[in-house]
Amino acid sequence: MKKLIVANWKMNPSTLKEAEQLFFATARTVGKSRNVEVIVCPPYPYLTAFRVQGSGFRLGAQDVFWEEKGAFTGEVSSRMLRSVGVSYAIVGHSERRALGETNEVINKKVNTALAAGLRVVLCVGERERVGNTEYALFVREEVKRGLMGVPRQFLKRLTVAYEPLWAIGSGAPDTPESTLEMAIYIRRILFDAFGKRASGSVRVLYGGSVTPENARAFLEDGGVDGLLVGRASLDAKAVGEIVKKAAHT
Ligand code: PGA
Repeated sequence: MKKLIVANWKMNPSTLKEAEQLFFATARTVGKSRNVEVIVCPPYPYLTAFRVQGSGFRLGAQDVFWEEKGAFTGEVSSRMLRSVGVSYAIVGHSERRALGETNEVINKKVNTALAAGLRVVLCVGERERVGNTEYALFVREEVKRGLMGVPRQFLKRLTVAYEPLWAIGSGAPDTPESTLEMAIYIRRILFDAFGKRASGSVRVLYGGSVTPENARAFLEDGGVDGLLVGRASLDAKAVGEIVKKAAHT
């Protein structure tokens, strides 16, 4: 399975000009990695500005709505995203959950996005670690409820990103050891819900304060198929280094 590096720019940078600079600088440092898939997720307004054909990237959106069209002011649908060349959507990021997104809403988004042909990165694991068991049950709930009703055949377009809240943007990442435990646990939940064949195609990522310095440890010892990178994705050089590490693990 190809390693997956997802660059989540969040609500950055502030102008199209800066976004273009970041995009092209990242394209230069990343180059064309044969065995790593790189997804760049800029804010909505910038999505149409980038031609990814010929670059080593695919485009991702940071969110998506669950209806296809109609009177939903401010929302953006899967088909709209696909029509401008977007192939991935992040769903259920903890920053969106903090704004009130529930598992129910996330589930609707996951189902419509997958049905529309988008690839989905479902983010889970956003609460404080109160104790391993309780925490694990919480993650289980997010995975199970987030994926309710998803047909098996769509699972090949699904990635689950394990992102503990305390690690996001904090400069204090999880350890590869506990990420490994969670990656195994998440794969087990998927296995139980969807069976071996369908669940075997789902990639599991780690996200939370990933840097060029810790990327290799997560990829080698964390049992994950890739990384979701926030802050470091605003530094083209850092993304290039992370992708290089992924190419050599
Ligand atoms: P971070 O963000 O790398 O800045 O911690 C990760 C994320 O929110 O996806």
